[in-house]
Parts: sequence; structure tokens; C-alpha cells
Amino acid sequence: MIKILDKKHILLGVTGSIAAYKAADLASKLTQAGALVDVILTTSALQFVTPLTFQSVTGRRAYTDADLWGGEGHVQHIGLGKSADLLVIAPATANTLARLARGLADNLLCVTALAAACPLLVAPAMDGGMYLHPATQANLEILRQRNVTIIGPAEGHLASGLAGIGRMVEPQELLNQVRLIFSRNGPLRGHRLVITAAGTQEPIDPVRAITNRSSGKQGFALAQAALDLGAEVTLIAGPTSLGTPGGASRVDVRTAEDMLEAVLAAIPQATALLMAAAVADFRPIHPAGQKIKKEGGIPQIHLEQTPDILHLVAQMKAETGWPRYMVGFAAESQQLLENARQKLQAKRLDLIIANDISASDAGFEVDTNRVTLLYADGRAEALGLMSKEQVAEQILDRLVSQITTGSG
Ligand code: CTP
Repeated sequence: MIKILDKKHILLGVTGSIAAYKAADLASKLTQAGALVDVILTTSALQFVTPLTFQSVTGRRAYTDADLWGGEGHVQHIGLGKSADLLVIAPATANTLARLARGLADNLLCVTALAAACPLLVAPAMDGGMYLHPATQANLEILRQRNVTIIGPAEGHLASGLAGIGRMVEPQELLNQVRLIFSRNGPLRGHRLVITAAGTQEPIDPVRAITNRSSGKQGFALAQAALDLGAEVTLIAGPTSLGTPGGASRVDVRTAEDMLEAVLAAIPQATALLMAAAVADFRPIHPAGQKIKKEGGIPQIHLEQTPDILHLVAQMKAETGWPRYMVGFAAESQQLLENARQKLQAKRLDLIIANDISASDAGFEVDTNRVTLLYADGRAEALGLMSKEQVAEQILDRLVSQITTGSG
């Protein structure tokens, strides 16, 4: 993963909600992502968690209102606020939201929020009735108009025992949102990338399908890397259990035909199409409407070719100019470079990523890949064995160079 949070100074404000225990997980995730996390707990947060909880996961001091009146109290909040790259308040109670909206400064967190010049993200957590109360809604509206990022709350089980709106969103989702805040001025800002991932499934009958072993990991890693560089990402995915990278618009598809439709709908105005999906090449001509039974004997399944998506997109590009860049993948078990080069030309690509799937540490289902990048101008660049995240970063890095120099 691109280390966009590396050495970023993040202030995490924790207020008095039962969701405060989840804030420890968020602090841990931010720290693991490379951020320097300073935590400020309100007095009511101390009813649920302790400074030690946070110090243990961040390796840094956690502050309380006692620090407001300590020896350095008068400068503490200014120092914390001024040096922060981002202030996150999670969970944010109705009370703290009201204080923020009105600019009150009666605890260390709110004083710091007033002194801070960095962006503010809040994750409300409270009972559904409190959240929907006009007072809370009006406070949130004030914060929204001040460009505060408000994430959640989510619906689900509440501490009151009832179900409804008011839960703090999960720490992983908050981490995703934090990454988006730091990536929004990246080199791909203003560019939309369409990325396909995973294998397609071509039905034989309602329960069986022709598919392949693609996990989708490489395509999802590309989507995350593109988001981290500030791109807007449309992720078109075949069936996979992988979670959506935060901020991507995901379109789930099953067959090659569905994927073609989704790709054609997404590419107008797109800067690039990255076809990491393993599209099935053949499909049953007549899928059975009912489950095929053994009594009928061994079935003969007649196949036809699926549409070649890159081929059709290349035609569209020739007519419309979109997408500006086309990147393909070639998973080969023999004559890797020859086959890949042939596909690069036949599909009129700017770049193809050749992947030797006969190696046990590259290709399907594993976390690593060993690829060679082949460019339309004949250049070849072999990358060593690396994680699929690193492969994704390298590919995006090359794409950024092409886009910014206007070549390709
Ligand atoms: N591809 C596509 N549409 C298809 C099949 C493949 O757009 N119906 C794309 C893949 O997503 C990949 C590239 O074409 O980016 C190469 O895919 P690959 O399966 O290696 O090539 P094929 O053209 O299908 O050739 P073959 O399977 O015969 O090697």
C-alpha cells in the first residue's frame, strides 16, 4: 500500500460514547499505516477508556483535560492543533458536535479544534433519537458548511438495545476516509480510472458456471493504489469476496457480457482502462434454464467465444478518444513475452503487464507477482518478485508518468 499516512501527524479526539473502545482500534490502524497519532480524551471518554489504552497502541502520549491546566497547558492546545495534518474526532457525541458547531472552548479537545488549522473529520455516534433531533441536525449542517467531513453514523445495533441509526462507522471505514483526505491532491486528481478485476462466470445452468482461478487481488490492489494517488475509481468486479477499497465506485458483474456493458458505460471521459480481470474466453451457447440432472446422461455443452472487451474498447477509443490509455494483462503459462507482445499489438494497448502464471509465487491466488511491463513503443521493463500491492504501485507510477508527460 502506498504509504500516504507515513509520518502524518493525526490528532484523534475521543469523546464519551461506548464506541470509544473502537477508537483504540482506529488509533492502532492509523499507527500501523505510519501516522503519528496523538490522542485527546474528553473527561466523559475516560468513563469508557483510559489514556493507557491509546498510549499502548500509538506509542505516544494521550492527553486529557488535566493537561489543559498543567504547566504547559496554555500552549499545549496551540502546539497540538498547529502541528496536526488532520484532526479526527471519533466517536463524536452530540454534545461535542454542539460544542464544535458553536465554537465552545471548555475542554482540551474543543480548544484544540478551535486552534487547529487542519481539516477536521468527525464520526458521530449516539442514540438514533439524539442524532435525528433537529438540534443535532442543525449542528451537523453548520459543520458541513465549514467543510468538516462527516462520516456516518451507520445503522445497526445501538447501545440502547434498539436498532437504528447512530452507530459509529467501523474503524476500517474511517481509515479509508482518512486515506482519501490525504490522497485528494495526488497526481491523479481529476482523472477517472476504470479498473476491472477478478474472473467472470459463464453459466452452464442455474448452479454451475465456467470460471477461472483469478482472485481479484491484483485488480483490487490497482484500485487502492489509484485512489491513493487521488484518482476517481470505477471498479468493475467479477464475483469475489474482497472488500471494496474505500472511495471506489464498485460495479459487480458476473459474465463477460455484463462486464463489457459495465466497461462501455464507464469509459466515456475516463483517463484509463486497466483490464486486470480474467475474462472467460468461452461461454455455453445455451445455458440450461433448470439444473442439469445426472439422469439425462453426460451433457454436451457447446461453447462460443465471449466478446473481447479490450478489442471492442480499442475500437471505441479510435472513434471517441476515450479512454486515453489502455492497459491490459497477459497471464501466460508459456512464451510469456512473445504472447504478451502479440496481445499488446492486437488489442492496441499502451501497456501490457505480462505475468508468468507457471511460477508458484506469481499469478492466481497468491499474494505475490513477478511481472514484465511491455510498452507500445517496444520498451520492456522486468519487475522482480513483489507483492501485488507493490506491483500495483509500480504500474500506477508508470501510468502517472505517461499521463503527466502526455506520452503513450
Ligand atoms: N480480455 C478482454 N476480453 C476477453 C478476454 C480477455 O478484454 N474476452 C482482456 C483481459 O482482461 C486481459 C487481456 O485481454 O487484460 C488479455 O487477456 P488474455 O486472457 O491473456 O488474452 P486473450 O485475448 O483472451 O487470449 P488467450 O486467452 O487466447 O491467451
